[in-house]
Amino acid sequence: MTDPVAPFFETARLRVRAFTDTDVAAFVAYRADPEVARYQSWSDFGEAEGRALVASMQGLEPGTPGEWYQLALEATDDGLLVGDLALHVDGDDPRLAEVGFTLAPAAQGRGYAAEALTGLLDHAFPTYGLHRVHAVTDALNAPAAALLERVGFRREAHYLENVWFKGAWGSEYLFAVLEHEWADRRS
Ligand SMILES: CC(C)(COP(=O)(O)OP(=O)(O)OC[C@H]1O[C@@H](n2cnc3c(N)ncnc32)[C@H](O)[C@@H]1OP(=O)(O)O)[C@@H](O)C(=O)NCCC(=O)NCCS
Repeated sequence: MTDPVAPFFETARLRVRAFTDTDVAAFVAYRADPEVARYQSWSDFGEAEGRALVASMQGLEPGTPGEWYQLALEATDDGLLVGDLALHVDGDDPRLAEVGFTLAPAAQGRGYAAEALTGLLDHAFPTYGLHRVHAVTDALNAPAAALLERVGFRREAHYLENVWFKGAWGSEYLFAVLEHEWADRRS
């Protein structure tokens, strides 16, 4: 069970809230999984990294321009941490934002990511006054691309060998959704 923390928002099956120290073990357990880390920025993720990341967000608010913020996804039925969302509002133009998402392996294939990301967009566009939200995925990360299309992002770009990633050139997709597109989709 995780500590009760007032959620930023809730969905049908999830409480989306700040991370607490009691999340560290579960957070590290899924981040250290090689399949979870495969297309992510980290390679080795241990308890020290988990504690440091949770500590770095204490005192921060989601939507703070120029700062990445990780939001914990807690299943409402059993209180377990099932994954996280990441939100970065642009430091130069705070009407622009980027999102990321990760689920623990046991929580994948149940619709939690689409539910959480939809909830984040419903929350973030009005709360932070956003105009455009984008996401970048490795072009080989089929579950991430499928998730973004399912939720309603447009694929805007397919960059070829644009990043040196984990020892090789990687190709990425850029996905985005505009505030009026999201409003039309949700109305
Ligand atoms: C990207 C990631 C979050 C996608 O997770 P996911 O579980 O595939 O996506 P969802 O949670 O939306 O679940 C969708 C699946 O659940 C199924 N599902 C089962 N019950 C469901 C329900 N009640 N509602 C909706 N979908 C449901 C859907 O049919 C779909 O299955 P399919 O992929 O076989 O078509 C996950 O693969 C992940 O964490 N990967 C590692 C981290 C990563 O690479 N992140 C992205 C970096 S850019």
